[in-house]
Amino acid sequence: MGENTDQSQKNITGFRPPEDFARNAIVNDPDIYGRAEDDPESFWEENANGIEWYRKWDNVLEWEPPLSKWFIGGKLNACYNCLDVNLKQRADKTAIIWEGESGDIRKYTYKELLEEVSSFANVLKGTGVKKGDIVTIYLPMIPEVVIAMLACARIGAPHSVVFAAFSGESLATRIGNANSKVLITCDGYSRRGKVVEQKNKVDEGIRSCGLLDKVIVMKHYGNDVSMTEGRDVWWHEVMKDSESSCEPEVMDSEDMLFLMYTSGTTGKPKGIVHTTGGYMVATHTTTKFVFDLKEDDIYWCTADCGWITGHSYLVYGPLSNGTTLVMYEGAPDYPDKDRYWDIIERHKVTILYTAPTAIRTFMKWGPSWPQMHDISTLRLIGSVGEPINPGAWLWYHENIGLGKCPVVDTWWQTETGMIMISPLPGITTTKPGSATMPMPGIKAAVLDEKGNEVPPGQDGYLAILKPWPSMVRTVFGNEERFIETYWSKWDNKTYFAGDGAKRDEDGYFWIIGRVDDVIKVSGHRIGSAEFESILVSHPSVAEAGVVGKEDELRGEVIYSYVTLKSGVEESDELKSELTSYAAKNIGPFARPKQIIFSDDLPKTRSGKIMRRVLKAIANNKDPGDVTTLQDPAVVENLKEKTRILD
Ligand code: WTA
Repeated sequence: MGENTDQSQKNITGFRPPEDFARNAIVNDPDIYGRAEDDPESFWEENANGIEWYRKWDNVLEWEPPLSKWFIGGKLNACYNCLDVNLKQRADKTAIIWEGESGDIRKYTYKELLEEVSSFANVLKGTGVKKGDIVTIYLPMIPEVVIAMLACARIGAPHSVVFAAFSGESLATRIGNANSKVLITCDGYSRRGKVVEQKNKVDEGIRSCGLLDKVIVMKHYGNDVSMTEGRDVWWHEVMKDSESSCEPEVMDSEDMLFLMYTSGTTGKPKGIVHTTGGYMVATHTTTKFVFDLKEDDIYWCTADCGWITGHSYLVYGPLSNGTTLVMYEGAPDYPDKDRYWDIIERHKVTILYTAPTAIRTFMKWGPSWPQMHDISTLRLIGSVGEPINPGAWLWYHENIGLGKCPVVDTWWQTETGMIMISPLPGITTTKPGSATMPMPGIKAAVLDEKGNEVPPGQDGYLAILKPWPSMVRTVFGNEERFIETYWSKWDNKTYFAGDGAKRDEDGYFWIIGRVDDVIKVSGHRIGSAEFESILVSHPSVAEAGVVGKEDELRGEVIYSYVTLKSGVEESDELKSELTSYAAKNIGPFARPKQIIFSDDLPKTRSGKIMRRVLKAIANNKDPGDVTTLQDPAVVENLKEKTRILD
């Protein structure tokens, strides 16, 4: 038995899978861990048969650390695997149940979805999009975001979905980096009953970049927009006469399926490259295993398609398993705080996958809201995006899972593409607050600075020791950054996740949180450097240091330490102006919680701002050795200013 099989031992105290759940679970034989560990490549090869291929692979893996290729020589199409494969048995099964914030409902069967996707694929072709061209999608949670993604996949054009709440400027940066010529967006959408003018944000943001040839605009909210002659076209007009069948492009296993921009330690957001074969095998398999997906499940992942969870576990994983999925456009408290439970009751949702921030918010609102509804159809509930504290885990289990649903706390990242550490609900004894064990086929460890495994109970860095099929292939246009960020902490074979973690005596993994300069605000991933560069672009700001402060509800909130240009007066007005400036330039989800003015920031003698020290100050922790600072007195001064805020 390998070490991963520890969890089948009976002496672990925690929540055992309910007996009937375990009996009927898709995966309920703990041997799966041992088999996968002995021969991970065979394990993945076996699961690759869950996907339809035009041509099967010659080799499973080519590993030239840190570069990997999976299912080499294999040919497939991701869209075909999400739609066409389901036509034989599930043509009239509902693929998507969409609910708008206003209460509108739209449903698509697999057959209808295929027709829409094919029509839109033909529109893209007509626009001149060819295999390999990157298409940017800037849509809220409406069915068209899925249709657009799958249409891109059908014709072999990688998509780059930009979270709809990002600002026009953030959009423009991503369009520019991807050199994308075509953008798909909408007029506007509803957030807590108010319109978000999406097309206006586009116009503002791309004014300066001038890159786009075509903008396809879905009419959704009905607000007024201005259309640029020759560039902007309406979705419904170009779709009108579009042919509803479109041959899927035969893609190589290693052809890019999509780009997903995410924040890192330094500079601009980086384009994480995911390819087709390995990604489809990984998401198809893990969706089935972790969520125990059965034919009659109604599956709801509350993530937005603008983030990786929306890609892997709202689109590619669930649809390639022929699932009926629920998609909701709006806020959880609109029109009231029971909206989620109302949706679950009306659509008879059986599986719910959401984020700790949401769970902690529900907890704050109290159990009377879910109690207003019959949510007993739920049989499995999941969590993703940030560490879930045991209190929130237990509340979720008790009040949403009604004490009977297994809870799957799933650790993974944009870069991993798939769930990496998670319970298997029919096997694993869960412990509140622990993501438990690596998935079969995944080898993870907690290492120290030198790359040695740390003893149980001790903090270290989370590392992945073996390649996996949906691993990030590169950072778009910047292989050096790819190697530097993920593969240079120890040796070039060991993936550095950027998270701190520890293991307990039973070998269970407990994720602590980011150890780099990534801030997780309500599960949204924001880079310190990116944020600082926005702040210093304001005419009053000289320097800025931005860090995360632990927060009971949101996981982390943003604390910005700012030095003003000489002659600029500190004032509350300026504080709120900078707050709005950041929210406007990045997106409203990135509104800083505090702006703290200071004459100086902690810097090394070479003038580098030490975020580590700022982070300690923000969190009332010991900043450690500060003797190497230019001016150690700065620390006391900032501590005092921060203390006043608490
Ligand atoms: C954090 C989201 C603890 C972690 C899928 C990771 C988690 C980052 C968990 C990736 C979890 C995600 N427990 N922390 N179950 N899931 N994280 O790229 O810090 O948006 O590195 O991908 O989220 O965020 P990303």
